[in-house]
Amino acid sequence: MDKFFLDLGTQPLANNFQKNLKSQSQRFYKLKVIYNTHNFFVKIHKRISKKIMFNSKYPYRSSLSKTFLQNQKKLSKKIKIFFKPKKILEIGSNDGSFIKNFSTKKAICVEPCKNLAKITTNKGYKTYSNYWDTKLAEKIKTDFGKVDIVYSANTITHISNLKNVFEAIKKLLNPNGVIIIEDPSLLECIKYNSYDQFYNEHIYIFSLLSLNKFLDSIDLCIFDVENIKTHGGSLRYYVKFKKNANFIRTKNYFNQLKNEKKFGLNKLSTYLKFSNRILKSKKKLISILESINNKGETIIGYGATAKSVTVLNFCNINSSLIKFFVDTTPAKKFKYIPGTNIFIKPYSKKLIKDVNYIFLGAWNFKKEIFNKEKNFIKRKGRFITHIPFPRII
Ligand code: TYD
Repeated sequence: MDKFFLDLGTQPLANNFQKNLKSQSQRFYKLKVIYNTHNFFVKIHKRISKKIMFNSKYPYRSSLSKTFLQNQKKLSKKIKIFFKPKKILEIGSNDGSFIKNFSTKKAICVEPCKNLAKITTNKGYKTYSNYWDTKLAEKIKTDFGKVDIVYSANTITHISNLKNVFEAIKKLLNPNGVIIIEDPSLLECIKYNSYDQFYNEHIYIFSLLSLNKFLDSIDLCIFDVENIKTHGGSLRYYVKFKKNANFIRTKNYFNQLKNEKKFGLNKLSTYLKFSNRILKSKKKLISILESINNKGETIIGYGATAKSVTVLNFCNINSSLIKFFVDTTPAKKFKYIPGTNIFIKPYSKKLIKDVNYIFLGAWNFKKEIFNKEKNFIKRKGRFITHIPFPRII
């Protein structure tokens, strides 16, 4: 049974960055989050059409983060050593940050956003600029035959029809092939109060508990998981056909399952308590920002993430509290944060030089950003974060 537990108010599309304020009268929708007591899925209640969310203007570029690139390089090495794939397919290949670790002869990309698909095509990778579904899987099978690895990072949670996603993968995967997917971890999200993992693109936030149950019902089987640091704490799942499950499930798998149950991810009360913490978090963040502004200090934001869009709109934060944001993404510069009047300036050291307070929009890159901003920290500049609770660091 679906149980609603969190109301994040009225939100715009999280990656719909606009050049002028007038276009800010863009589409808004109500963002509510639901827990299903039967299948353990946590999902947002309203789905926006994929054509509106993922089109030729999609701004997100996975190659812009060093941490992300390092992680993907490490995983690629592991895949080559352990699974020795002759063919590999990536669903949601973005700008090729993962696939570039494989030869163009072995790898196939699927990326519906045409601006991104162009990048991998230009690098010589066969790229299908389509939404992932059974029809596309059939086409790829005809063109290339079956594959040994299907990899997908931060994409499956964006697709509403999970059954179709995995039926499509099953069509294309060799009997002994492995599916590797990684997405934000529900356990980390609930533990660290990162309610900003919820926005229109994240239809689901997966747990091992929920995916396990679902995949088991369609003859697939998770045999290993890894906790990884990307996107504020993600889980990487390793999946095989159940009938070929001539392997032992790993210790990591059992530990994760135990931890999720121990934390109560299978109980509605856990989500209701989370919701209460989020309401407190909102009040506290506003009061911190207001008190700094009242002292006559300027606050700027760092990293115009989709996650920030949820926070800023939920907490009704505008440019009177956070003057502007800096961000390295070319497609976000000189635009406004969706739903707000906060402008995004292209990142430069000069913009940081004169401020004493920075709101960490990209809190999931805290380590990378703190390393980059050693001078700001040295001169006693302070970061503000809302994770795991609002505070000045
Ligand atoms: P990210 O947290 O990966 O994604 P999401 O949009 O899914 O919440 O986005 C990180 C953003 O932060 C991205 O717009 C780039 C920006 N960024 C910087 O501007 N500077 C940096 O040093 C880093 C690491 C990120």
